[in-house]
Amino acid sequence: MTLPDRSALSRRDYLRSLVAVGGASALAACTSEGDDVEIPSGTDDPDSLPERQHAWNDALTRDDDGNVRPPEHHVLVALSLVDDPTDEARERVEAALQELERAYEWSNEGLLFTLGYTPAYFDRFDGSLPDEVDLPEPRAVIGHVDAFDEFDALLHLASDHSQVVLEAEEGLFGEADEFNGQEIETDLMDVFERVDDHRRTGFVGPGLPAEHTDISGVPDSVPEDAPFFMGFRSGFAESQATEDRVTIEDGPFAGATTQHVESMTIQLRTWLEQDSHYQRVAKMFSPEHADEDLTGDIGEALGGSSGLTDERIEATESDARGGVVGHAQKAARAREDGDPLLLRRDFNTVDGDTPGLHFLSLQAGIEEFVRVREAMEGDDLDAPNANNGIRSYIFPNQRGNYLVPPRSLRALPAAAPDEA
Ligand code: HEM
Repeated sequence: MTLPDRSALSRRDYLRSLVAVGGASALAACTSEGDDVEIPSGTDDPDSLPERQHAWNDALTRDDDGNVRPPEHHVLVALSLVDDPTDEARERVEAALQELERAYEWSNEGLLFTLGYTPAYFDRFDGSLPDEVDLPEPRAVIGHVDAFDEFDALLHLASDHSQVVLEAEEGLFGEADEFNGQEIETDLMDVFERVDDHRRTGFVGPGLPAEHTDISGVPDSVPEDAPFFMGFRSGFAESQATEDRVTIEDGPFAGATTQHVESMTIQLRTWLEQDSHYQRVAKMFSPEHADEDLTGDIGEALGGSSGLTDERIEATESDARGGVVGHAQKAARAREDGDPLLLRRDFNTVDGDTPGLHFLSLQAGIEEFVRVREAMEGDDLDAPNANNGIRSYIFPNQRGNYLVPPRSLRALPAAAPDEA
């Protein structure tokens, strides 16, 4: 694959472009870019790491308002099994993952990752997934025809350093010799093949979206400090499910979670250039947020909460009848006893040279994702399409469901681990 033109890009954008391209030559270019930052090494005792693969929050930093700050760079590596799982293959996967944990600190400065499995992966086993695991085949949750993740597994790599996600991926597939200076002994090559067409990449963090105005669908009007393309902060603590809430508590997969990944493109120019800031706030949050100027330019005025009171959530239907309804307000209708059901770990992308979002969320079961997604779509609401939250600006094109097992079962688990 052709590497991006170094002279045409800022350093940050160049590094981001290298992650998007991937491969050994991108890694070499990234390394020679000389990011002098020292990457902290990992633990000598990988078994001391949390049993939940998705236990990332305590390993991440928080912003001044106490909201968890996600890692800046992400790669979703789609994987397909070479042969049916054997004990030898399981040992190999576990050994390779432990090498990552020894090489990189379990943090945003080092590397965080999860390995999740699709329903298609579990279909090969005689036994079935236990009742506690709600993992249906992916389907078109909302009206669109979209494509589904039908490969076997997805490795989510995340770090504040682009060279870490690249090096981890390339090292696992024989295209790097070292993880953070430590010689690699075990890779994943005899077990998994990468499904290149489904490899996805992205970024999140203040200022990163505005670095991508070289892409034709990304206008110069992307706010300078916004962490997301659409111009607002997201992931406020009070609007996120806790890691406990999304964890499967009982059965052989206790400690697991389910993951949904919905990929979409965003009609960013229309969003940023056709609508006023007032309209964007009303459509993203709620009309009241716009009337009372609750967000500030990019949501900085909101602190640790998206400002969704019970009254604002309950007003969703009447706001819609009034002509405009907010995305966050609609989605919050699916809260249970006031608690959000999804732990969102989404990030923006310019995969395919188009602005988009990989919406990655964790929840106790996929049915909860579907419920929230339907509430977010708001087909039941009486608002014109263009004013029904952000739905007319986003175009989902792919989705997948995964089980992210507990760490002790992360290496090629059987569908019924108790019987295996
Ligand atoms: C480009 C696409 C999207 C953008 C820019 C976006 C942005 C936002 C923003 C700014 C908020 C309010 C701030 C916060 O509380 O974090 C929010 C809340 C939320 N969004 Fe999205 N979102 C997008 C897609 C989605 C999708 C596909 C879903 C799937 C269901 C979703 C579900 C939610 C939920 C559940 C909340 C929190 C509601 C609550 O407080 O209970 N969003 N989103």
